[in-house]
Amino acid sequence: MNINLEARPIAEVESDALVLVGFEGGPPQGAADQIKELYDSGEFTGKSCEISVLHRPAGLKAKRLVLAGGGKPEKFNSSELRKVAGAAFRSLKSKKVRSITLALDDSFRSDEYAAAAVEGAILGDFESDRYKTDPKKTEKHVDSFAVLGGSQAAVDRGRILAEAQNFTRGLANDPPNLLTPMRLAERARELASEFVLGCEILDQDRMRQLGMGALLGVAQGSAEPPALIVLRYQPATAPSSKDHLGLVGKGVTFDTGGISIKPAQDMDQMRYDMAGGAAVLGAMRAIAQLKPSIPVTGIIPTVENMPGSRAQRPGDIVTSLSGKTVEVLNTDAEGRLILIDALTYAQRLGCTHLVDAATLTGAVVVALGHFYAGAFSNNQPFLDKLLAAAKTEGEKMWQFPLDEEYKKALESEFADLQNIGGRPGGAITAATFIKDFVNDVPWIHLDIAGTASLEDGKPYLVKGATGICVRTFVQLAQSW
Ligand code: BES
Ligand code: MN
Ligand code: ZN
Repeated sequence: MNINLEARPIAEVESDALVLVGFEGGPPQGAADQIKELYDSGEFTGKSCEISVLHRPAGLKAKRLVLAGGGKPEKFNSSELRKVAGAAFRSLKSKKVRSITLALDDSFRSDEYAAAAVEGAILGDFESDRYKTDPKKTEKHVDSFAVLGGSQAAVDRGRILAEAQNFTRGLANDPPNLLTPMRLAERARELASEFVLGCEILDQDRMRQLGMGALLGVAQGSAEPPALIVLRYQPATAPSSKDHLGLVGKGVTFDTGGISIKPAQDMDQMRYDMAGGAAVLGAMRAIAQLKPSIPVTGIIPTVENMPGSRAQRPGDIVTSLSGKTVEVLNTDAEGRLILIDALTYAQRLGCTHLVDAATLTGAVVVALGHFYAGAFSNNQPFLDKLLAAAKTEGEKMWQFPLDEEYKKALESEFADLQNIGGRPGGAITAATFIKDFVNDVPWIHLDIAGTASLEDGKPYLVKGATGICVRTFVQLAQSW
């Protein structure tokens, strides 16, 4: 799809559809009669994501005038616009409209809004039908989307971010038979050569030499070999500080639970257990193009958690890369086991700031539902920086506590610590486990178990993987 900045005045725009945002509470002052009639008749009220289409609008070159509901004007912001643009885009796409221009109101003609509109359209364009063979799907596609307002740089940034997020969504949606750890590593290698990033893949032998016993313990129940993916971005001019951002993403391509096997109901959802890893890959894709001034390393430990005959057992004790021993009391608490070795490795690579993203616990879904990701940190100023980036990008994240008291739940009879802490505060004890391996390095853990995928589609987003964290990670790097 072509993405453009429209410079002509509204009346001169020649699209199949010209989209304007209309708010609750009536038409704006000086609105055209046709728009007033839509409001007066009650056909359009301005409710969020509501869509009304007028054909052959008077005084415009566009074939259709589309009113898209922006909700209450006092609650409108760029995050709302992202959704509205997506909803309008999806609605028009389903009607086989081929070219769409969204015109921002004078008061919203800024880069922030222009980027959000472009993001909304590209995210709305994404479908989860990659493996459908029905050729009908190709009939519905939009050739070009333009935004009126903002700069070319904003339009480009929006396009890069949304394309990266869609890349992540496609990866996370991929079925677990096709997207194995090795295949994920190949995809990372392809990405690195296309977008010019450093890339290193550690295979099982190398990880054994290094002593990544926690990661390898999870991998040993599967016939699919594991990998540790490392992608590196280095700014062209030497940065003024020594800061080095490490992004670590959980890459479990399928989580059966292992010997502590999961129930059959909804187990297919565990295809998304590599969503954190996919988000790191997507973020690195955008970072390679947007070139922030801080070096960024992306690290993805990737395994399949299976109950094969060589699988680890509840009660096994493994030695992690850090040297600490862990008693594996539940093989389904595997995410934290692969993350600790990846986070130790990230420190060895010189990362001074660490962020991990992981579909880590069902407990975070109980606590926050599907709208917020859980955020945990050992460093409040660093977390505040990330939460500000998340807010800018419209990704909802909510801080949990991480007090010392929670450590008690992880005390083991036989090893340095155990990998589960019981039902109370399950998302927090999981984060507490990881915290034990980051030493004093500023670190943030994002539990995206409830937000990595949508069970029901939204008017602006098809169901399946969401690509959460991609935009926040890129914004964090860019705002350094
Ligand atoms: N991948 C799951 C967490 C998950 C649950 C993600 C639901 C998405 C939706 C993780 O590996 C897991 O199994 N966690 C266990 C931990 C428990 C054994 C301490 C859980 O949350 O039940
Ligand atoms: Mn699990
Ligand atoms: Zn898992």
